[in-house]
Amino acid sequence: MRILLIGASGTIGKRIYDALSPKHEVVRGGRSGADVEVDITDNLSIEDMYHAVGDIDAVICAAGPAKFGPFSEMSEDDMYVGIRGKMMGQVNLVRIGQKYLNDGGSFTLTTGILADEPVPGSVGVSLVNGAVNSFVVAAAQELPRGQRINVVSPTVVADSAEMYADFFPGFDPVSMDRVVNGYVKSVMGRMTGKIIRVI
Ligand SMILES: NC(=O)c1ccc[n+]([C@@H]2O[C@H](COP(=O)([O-])OP(=O)(O)OC[C@H]3O[C@@H](n4cnc5c(N)ncnc54)[C@H](OP(=O)(O)O)[C@@H]3O)[C@@H](O)[C@H]2O)c1
Repeated sequence: MRILLIGASGTIGKRIYDALSPKHEVVRGGRSGADVEVDITDNLSIEDMYHAVGDIDAVICAAGPAKFGPFSEMSEDDMYVGIRGKMMGQVNLVRIGQKYLNDGGSFTLTTGILADEPVPGSVGVSLVNGAVNSFVVAAAQELPRGQRINVVSPTVVADSAEMYADFFPGFDPVSMDRVVNGYVKSVMGRMTGKIIRVI
């Protein structure tokens, strides 16, 4: 399978790459140091990426910029970091990518537990996680040529637990192997329109 992995240099993306690359051709996407450069906040950049990459059976997005911060201090621009990044960045990867993805191919996006279990300071992230979850359920009904779409929604992952400890008091970190398996299940399986919660 030929798989395009956006956010491949990230905490989660690196581990998805390690799991899939022994058996599949994985093309890494990101803003720097990747096989193909892409900024998911820029539609032209997304279009250029799909042109450059060519034949693709699966797209995974493990990139999703969004801003944490107390709601009382969040400006509209702060909210738009997540709306332009994690929300519309992923929506546009699918909106544009449906023209390029092979018949029967799949999209796998990323949200997170904050859609369902917000914490103080997560309004800007919870908002877009919920939106992307709903987008995936709806888009699954309309994708052409047998294409599928799912979203992986992890709780805090073990590799980030220390960094996010203050934001997620009392949350049990999940192993990276379980998170990666959410992506593997989405890409290799037949499911569509699913929110794969890894908690
Ligand atoms: N870590 C966790 O515990 C956790 C838990 C639940 C959900 N999540 C979600 O999982 C996703 C990945 O998290 P992570 O911790 O792996 O993040 P990370 O370590 O910060 O990595 C982010 C990745 O996305 C790329 N990226 C960032 N902005 C981009 C843009 N505008 N266009 C294209 N690529 C971009 C980065 O590479 P470049 O900078 O080179 O572009 C990097 O490869 C996020 O949506 C996050 O909210 C994470």
